[in-house]
Amino acid sequence: MLSVKDLVTGYGDMRVVREVSFDVLPGEVTALLGRNGAGKTTTLRAIAGLNKITSGSVRLDGADIGPLPPHRRIRAGLGVVQENKRVFKRHTVEANLLLGGYSTGVRRKQLRESLEEVYELFPALRGRTSTPAGQLSGGQQQMLAIGQAIMGRPKLLMLDEPSAGLAPAIVLEVMDSVEKLKRSGLGILLVEQAVEAAVGVADRVAVLEIGRVVMSGPAGAIDDLEIIKEAYFGRVPGTDAGLTTGAPD
Ligand SMILES: Nc1ncnc2c1ncn2[C@@H]1O[C@H](COP(=O)(O)OP(=O)(O)OP(=O)(O)O)[C@@H](O)[C@H]1O
Ligand SMILES: [Mg+2]
Repeated sequence: MLSVKDLVTGYGDMRVVREVSFDVLPGEVTALLGRNGAGKTTTLRAIAGLNKITSGSVRLDGADIGPLPPHRRIRAGLGVVQENKRVFKRHTVEANLLLGGYSTGVRRKQLRESLEEVYELFPALRGRTSTPAGQLSGGQQQMLAIGQAIMGRPKLLMLDEPSAGLAPAIVLEVMDSVEKLKRSGLGILLVEQAVEAAVGVADRVAVLEIGRVVMSGPAGAIDDLEIIKEAYFGRVPGTDAGLTTGAPD
């Protein structure tokens, strides 16, 4: 569904991400892990069209979306929830959701259906449709931000650190919704620093370290999270049980 190949990107002339490759399949979660500053957000922004792709390709359902501007990527089926849950704080919950639908050109009739899906997924939002988003808890704002992206009926959803700043119980709730979304057939790219939470719902993982993938493979092959955590700190162990560790050159 989403195929990122040898992606090189950064800011201006500064290359931050080098030859990064990974796939996201329909109905699956690929977790893009890595510590602070590893290049996770930069990768996501390049896929969304917010950072220039220096080289490499980004394909959505086989089509090269690299040359498209951000809004056309969204129309092509990309849903994006950026870091720090951006919602319109003065607008009500429902207005925020409707904006998510309008901005992607979803038809009016479908908006009702989509709203219903979002409330089904996040019952906490159903009773608060007329509440200004700024009055929601951090967890509810995160749910609203995900809901906004769902309103555009994406095929592939990218979430940038949805667990950041949330209490453990709320993180579980958010990961639960990720699990439900993937069961509905959506492909999900889950960017996280929180290893345990992400690996719990992931089908595949790719670990970034200073802009390179240092480890990737099926989540089922990870029997020791410590291996990933070590990768975070640059002590990459040898190849383990189906996981490939690409040593940076
Ligand atoms: N707007 C920017 N201009 C220049 N450099 C940037 C910019 N944003 C990020 N960087 C640099 O790019 C590198 C990767 O940052 P990025 O935000 O992609 O990391 P991250 O993995 O998302 O980290 P975090 O987990 O803290 O969100 C860092 O060295 C960072 O300083
Ligand atoms: Mg980031």
